[in-house]
Amino acid sequence: MKFFVDTADVKEIRELNDLGLLDGVTTNPSLILKSGGNIAEVTREICGIVEGPVSAEVVATEYKEMMREADVLSKIADNICIKVPLTLDGLKACKSIRSTGRLVNVTLCFSANQALLAAKADATFISPFVGRIDDTGSDGMELIAEIKQIYDNYSFPTEILTASIRTVNHVKQAALIGAHVITAPPATLRALVKHPLTDKGLEAFLADWAKTGQKIG
Ligand code: E4P
Repeated sequence: MKFFVDTADVKEIRELNDLGLLDGVTTNPSLILKSGGNIAEVTREICGIVEGPVSAEVVATEYKEMMREADVLSKIADNICIKVPLTLDGLKACKSIRSTGRLVNVTLCFSANQALLAAKADATFISPFVGRIDDTGSDGMELIAEIKQIYDNYSFPTEILTASIRTVNHVKQAALIGAHVITAPPATLRALVKHPLTDKGLEAFLADWAKTGQKIG
């Protein structure tokens, strides 16, 4: 399973990358706004930190303009993955961009049929937003399971990128279902390591070690 971080915060990305935890990055217009930076500059900096795909989103809603924006974004770095919305124009752009060998992440997926269309459009990644589905009272993870079954049924190569992750439990469930990728905020990725028994156990080991009066090396 690949771990992407869902942020445009360069400092956070650098720290997580140094831990060896990152396979890629996802950004979106809201995250660029939050970063306070210019999209080209911030994205270029991120692409220089992480080797894997860095998703940068088009903001046009019509095919032609999406393609123009995709060209601009693609020139930022070789590891750019163009993010397009799950609309008919977005799917058409996905197919065209993919035919040039570039990576595409189809975003804002909320149904299995939408994911099926993205696979037909040869998307590299499909991004179902589990947290936003949970917010409506439905179960976002059910959608991940449905998409996994459909993609397996037809051996679609499109990777399921579980997005809008809010909890560590989302990560575990995505892994149990067999989603290829998760993208999570930095705090959620860091929280994966936490367990009270690990802290308690370490504390006891260190206390006993201090009593030995020894040093290693
Ligand atoms: C994914 O690519 C999106 O940027 C992201 O996961 C959306 O998450 P949110 O619902 O927390 O905004």
